[in-house]
Amino acid sequence: MNKAEFITAAGFAVSLLFHMTQAEACPASCDCKSLGDMKGLQIDCSSRKLTAVPALPGGTKRLYLQNNSLTSVPPGTLDSLRSLEEVETSDNPWNCDCHILYLKLWLEDVSEPSLAKVRCATPAPVRMKPLRQLTGNELGSCKRLLPIKCLEFFWRDLILIAGAIITLILAAWALKFSKKLVCQINLCQSTPRG
Ligand SMILES: *[C@@H]1O[C@H](CO)[C@@H](O)[C@H](O)[C@H]1NC(C)=O
Repeated sequence: MNKAEFITAAGFAVSLLFHMTQAEACPASCDCKSLGDMKGLQIDCSSRKLTAVPALPGGTKRLYLQNNSLTSVPPGTLDSLRSLEEVETSDNPWNCDCHILYLKLWLEDVSEPSLAKVRCATPAPVRMKPLRQLTGNELGSCKRLLPIKCLEFFWRDLILIAGAIITLILAAWALKFSKKLVCQINLCQSTPRG
């Protein structure tokens, strides 16, 4: 086996290992079963008092997360589940602030019927409301992030503008100074003759 072959084989082994641990492992807290001919996994994580969605195999076809203690799903968590066909996320104390938007949009894409079953638990104004019905206004409790960002942009712009003005003043001053210098040189050259 030469060097290149060895590297290829090692790479293959590592990717296989990665694939096995990342894509096929059943989360410790869930029941997993193969769907046989349907080529996929059914992962049952329901009624387990889970407070976070566990790392899930890429081949997940059916996912049951109902009746847990889930409040939120960090953005991107479910993006790798490309072959998902069925998902249950109801009966969880979902906290419907602006961070729930990821779950809402993901469920809209994956399964409208299961989105319809999801109800919010907190904050108080949206308690027991279906997540599907929440509008931008009701999800807007993270809007206070916006003015901070605006202020950041304001200071950045102010510094840029101040920088530009200082540069202009310096350039004008340099121009004036160089003109003076040219005048003086001309004067020096013309006086001996005059
Ligand atoms: C929900 O989960 C709890 C355990 O966390 C269990 O005792 C209860 O029976 C479950 N309810 C349903 C409707 O499955």
